[in-house]
Amino acid sequence: MFRSVDRQLLATLPTPLEVGPVLDGGARLWVKRDDLTGLGGGGNKARKLEFLCGAAVAAGAGALLTVGAAQSNHCRMTAAAGAKLDLPVHLVLAGGNTGEAMGNQLLSTMFGAHLHFTGHGEADWEALEAARADVTDQLEREGLAPYAIPIGGSTPVGAAGYAHAFVELLDQCRSAAIDPTAIVFTSSSGGTHAGLLAGRAAVQAKGESVPAVIAVGVAKGVNIGQPDIVGLGNATLELLDNPARIDPADVEVDTRWIGADYAIPSSAGDAAVTWAARSGGWLVDRTYSGKGLSGLLGMAAEGRFGAADDVVFINTGGWPALFAPAGIPA
Ligand SMILES: Cc1ncc(COP(=O)(O)O)c(C=O)c1O
Repeated sequence: MFRSVDRQLLATLPTPLEVGPVLDGGARLWVKRDDLTGLGGGGNKARKLEFLCGAAVAAGAGALLTVGAAQSNHCRMTAAAGAKLDLPVHLVLAGGNTGEAMGNQLLSTMFGAHLHFTGHGEADWEALEAARADVTDQLEREGLAPYAIPIGGSTPVGAAGYAHAFVELLDQCRSAAIDPTAIVFTSSSGGTHAGLLAGRAAVQAKGESVPAVIAVGVAKGVNIGQPDIVGLGNATLELLDNPARIDPADVEVDTRWIGADYAIPSSAGDAAVTWAARSGGWLVDRTYSGKGLSGLLGMAAEGRFGAADDVVFINTGGWPALFAPAGIPA
């Protein structure tokens, strides 16, 4: 279905699909354990990094460089990928140097990454991207030949990881004899969403039934339509040489669960963090997967899913942030 493109095998795949409890309204919950992708503690970014690092190595890059929040999972996993591929990693981070790294930042340091603290706010992605461009220039001048990855790794190359993930998940659903109604997950930089929709379009074009793909937006950008999910997903399909295209009507972002802003915990998200821990021993965090799960639980409570439905939540990871200051709800 997809042309093979440069890839580095970094993740432990396929991740398990686990059955969970019955939701409000009677639907059966399933959890796709993308928190268990293996690389440097796991999470959704491992799938993107397989292709991003594939491109970096093919381009002869001498370093990896990316950008994110102080507790960026994407940065932590990029650091782990660099360790595995023997490439130096430079991380451009929001916030300042507290002198006592914890959670994802602690792990990034352990994986040997160089941290560049910008002092910028967590949600100021424009300033963070500008800082990434500056550090890229600096490393280029030093002759390091960095491969620069934008926030969240949400390029067509990165999103290819989730086009493949959609196919992997559907195969598992077929093996479990279920035909899910919906796949729900957390969206922040949009690449996971675009990749899943690319995979969905490719499978649908073969005449197979496909679930709805419902993104729960936890960052302002995706909640106002940035990036353009259809454009990103279609560019992913082009990269993978698949003629299917995404129907814009299939893009659904539930914007109601972000709370005050990106990376600011919400009460519904915190309730979901505790619910996950006590319902399945699952770890979800306050910035990403907890808010995403709060969206799924909220939709179920509103009656969106019925007793005949199977609903899949992709646990995209984020557990290391539980060990950052204020990582666990009080
Ligand atoms: C744990 C976790 N879940 C979900 C996401 C959202 O993925 P995307 O940036 O592809 O929208 C992220 C992104 O950083 C994440 O770290």
